[in-house]
Amino acid sequence: MSFISRAVSLGLAGALLAAGVGAEILYAGVNSAGGEFAQQNIPGAFGTDYQFINQSAIDFFLAAGVNTIRVTFLLERMCPLETGLGNTFNETYFTEFQNAVNYVTMRGGYAVLDAHNYMRYNDPSMQPSSGSIIGNSSDPKSSTTENLASFWSELSTRFMSNPNVIFGIMNEPHDMPTELILTNDQASIDAIRKTGAQQLILVPGNGFTGAQKWLNSTCAGCKPNADVLTAIQDPMNNFAFDMHLYFDNDTSGTHPECTNAAPANLLPVTTWLREHNYTAFLSEFGAGSNTACFQTVNNTLKWLEQNPQWIGWTYWAAGPLWGDYFLSVEPGVGVQSNTTWPMVLEPHIKTYQPMQRCGISEARKVGGVEGIARLLEGCLGLRLPGM
Ligand SMILES: *[C@@H]1O[C@H](CO)[C@@H](O)[C@H](O)[C@H]1NC(C)=O
Ligand SMILES: *[C@@H]1O[C@H](CO)[C@@H](O)[C@H](O)[C@H]1NC(C)=O
Ligand SMILES: *[C@@H]1O[C@H](CO)[C@@H](O)[C@H](O)[C@H]1NC(C)=O
Ligand SMILES: *[C@@H]1O[C@H](CO)[C@@H](O)[C@H](O)[C@H]1NC(C)=O
Ligand SMILES: *[C@@H]1O[C@H](CO)[C@@H](O)[C@H](O)[C@H]1NC(C)=O
Ligand SMILES: *[C@@H]1O[C@H](CO)[C@@H](O)[C@H](O)[C@H]1NC(C)=O
Ligand SMILES: *[C@@H]1O[C@H](CO)[C@@H](O)[C@H](O)[C@H]1NC(C)=O
Ligand SMILES: *[C@@H]1O[C@H](CO)[C@@H](O)[C@H](O)[C@H]1NC(C)=O
Repeated sequence: MSFISRAVSLGLAGALLAAGVGAEILYAGVNSAGGEFAQQNIPGAFGTDYQFINQSAIDFFLAAGVNTIRVTFLLERMCPLETGLGNTFNETYFTEFQNAVNYVTMRGGYAVLDAHNYMRYNDPSMQPSSGSIIGNSSDPKSSTTENLASFWSELSTRFMSNPNVIFGIMNEPHDMPTELILTNDQASIDAIRKTGAQQLILVPGNGFTGAQKWLNSTCAGCKPNADVLTAIQDPMNNFAFDMHLYFDNDTSGTHPECTNAAPANLLPVTTWLREHNYTAFLSEFGAGSNTACFQTVNNTLKWLEQNPQWIGWTYWAAGPLWGDYFLSVEPGVGVQSNTTWPMVLEPHIKTYQPMQRCGISEARKVGGVEGIARLLEGCLGLRLPGM
């Protein structure tokens, strides 16, 4: 479907309405994990080792009012080890990924392209810790910052004409110098913008990009994200910090008890965002199926809704290959498909309607004439003069 026919079928009036009114939450939905599964098996087999989406699950979420799906992929599959991180792709894997992304965006969803690699490349077998840190100059096996930039240049070129994508530079960097994360993030932003791509970029930090520790050191000798990432520069001024949040005792999202209650854990970072006029996107959060956790997730969403620094969220996680994983919201089959989804997440989604369905992905609501112009550009595939 062309952008024009899509805009017509969605109803341009509705799209323009969506641009002007509604909640401060611009993006809401779920992760669709699976493209990165079976990391010990590279390249692996599509449909058994890894799979990006189940189309009927995407249909379900979009029909429920969701407008954003974060689609995870693995760098070692996209960029084969033989050629390394860079602009040579495995076209089979790329096409499988592109099909998933296009399925979401052609139906009026936004798709976050999530490089699920912890700022590491070359051995994903024991993620999140295996593999060489990208840009570690003391490690002869490591890929360079330039390799990462080359990768993002290629991927953003391939999706440049799709206004409904959002570029997620990297999932959960950790245990590395925060300055190197800044260097890698900045090189990725520069590479994306050099292609002419205008879409929203999500910028991660150290400590598994944890929102609750944004102002704190997360590893020995590591500087807090808050002290280092203020140097980020985006020529398009269209980025948001990418943050994650879990509520169990070690904030890892691996236990069903919620002992780190929201929203106290979001107060310091929200204050920092406001002071610096930044926005953030909570691209992962998840909690067990119990009363305390339902309240915690509920309170988290209320906090995001009340603080305009937070532009969106995607719950962890849907996905076709989870089986009985305790956080799965995959429709029908997921452990939380009949609990957290209908009881906590969907009621919030309902209050956001209508959500924007086309227009270039943005780090904040763009109002007035410029907002309408950018929406028209995105919905109709135009480039208006002077914009
Ligand atoms: C996709 O979801 C449908 C409906 O729940 C299910 O019948 C089907 O088996 C799923 N397909 C895959 C490949 O997961
Ligand atoms: C490319 O990916 C496909 C699908 O996973 C796989 O079958 C093939 O072996 C891969 N090729 C290389 C060179 O990695
Ligand atoms: C960088 O690589 C060196 C050599 O392999 C290693 O000793 C060091 O721990 C790495 N840096 C980090 C932050 O892991
Ligand atoms: C995190 O950093 C903030 C700001 O510097 C400080 O107030 C707070 O005590 C720190 N928290 C921990 C657990 O160290
Ligand atoms: C966290 O809780 C689990 C039970 O879910 C327990 O086994 C574990 O020891 C706790 N970890 C910490 C660091 O308290
Ligand atoms: C905040 O940033 C937006 C867009 O980046 C800009 O238009 C606005 O003027 C800024 N506000 C302040 C108070 O700096
Ligand atoms: C979430 O909060 C709302 C409003 O405060 C309340 O009506 C609703 O029952 C809560 N839901 C859950 C699952 O706690
Ligand atoms: C969720 O409810 C549906 C409809 O009642 C049912 O078909 C499905 O098996 C349930 N799923 C789980 C995981 O309980």
